[in-house]
Amino acid sequence: MKRRLYIGTNTKMFQTGREAEEYIRRMDELIDDIRDRLEFFFIPSFTSLERVVRAVGERIRIGAQNMAWEDRGQFTGEVSPLMLEEIGVRFVLIGHSERRHVFGETDIMEAAKIRLAADHGFTALLCIGETAQQKESGLAAQSVLEQLKAAAGELSPEEASERLWIGYEPVWAIGTAGTPASASYAEDMHAVIRSGLVELFGEKGTEIPVLYGGSVNPSNAPEIIERNGIDGLFIGRSAWDPDRFNGIIRDVLPVFERRADR
Ligand code: 13P
Repeated sequence: MKRRLYIGTNTKMFQTGREAEEYIRRMDELIDDIRDRLEFFFIPSFTSLERVVRAVGERIRIGAQNMAWEDRGQFTGEVSPLMLEEIGVRFVLIGHSERRHVFGETDIMEAAKIRLAADHGFTALLCIGETAQQKESGLAAQSVLEQLKAAAGELSPEEASERLWIGYEPVWAIGTAGTPASASYAEDMHAVIRSGLVELFGEKGTEIPVLYGGSVNPSNAPEIIERNGIDGLFIGRSAWDPDRFNGIIRDVLPVFERRADR
């Protein structure tokens, strides 16, 4: 079966609940005629989740930006999967680069979160990516494979193929200080990640979507999605204006659908 284009955004700490609801209601209208060709997702802040689910949750996949690694406990400031489940959220971002590099999360923490997410039947979007220093030292492939194995290596092939998505987000490419990866670099790294997934999960590893993220914008999105092995885009800044995001989606969708390997 042909894959749909995976595309979505994480709004980080930028939108209030009211802004998130307004935004996603507009996106819901804009993508209405193409939603069957997309795996579209939206990942707002925790305090926006409930109202966003109420507004569009039947039509759009809504995810949390993070999750605790335990169901309950003395973890002030954390959010449990039980709390997400209660409001209809069963999709979660794990190990975003800002969680790892600003808040000090480790591979061990990401692994525990991935395990718990799978136990709850959640879909997890696991982010992996090398730092600038790792890239310059020629350690990009090794470091993403280590992150992948550490966080997801204990899943069964069935769990992984049913509930794991990967976001390849090179740390040096993300955010206002980032420079986007070239399409050919992204393609090479996606091939590395795919081989890691196949090594871990065998044939099932071919079914796991791998998305590219990091300074995707209207001008580079089509050339990135043209590359084999890139199953979708995970976008920050360039997705936060609905018309701009809709423009990107409409530009990349035909390119993706023409691609031979999808
Ligand atoms: P930017 O597109 O703003 O670089 O952010 C990407 C990202 O971190 C998505 O999670």
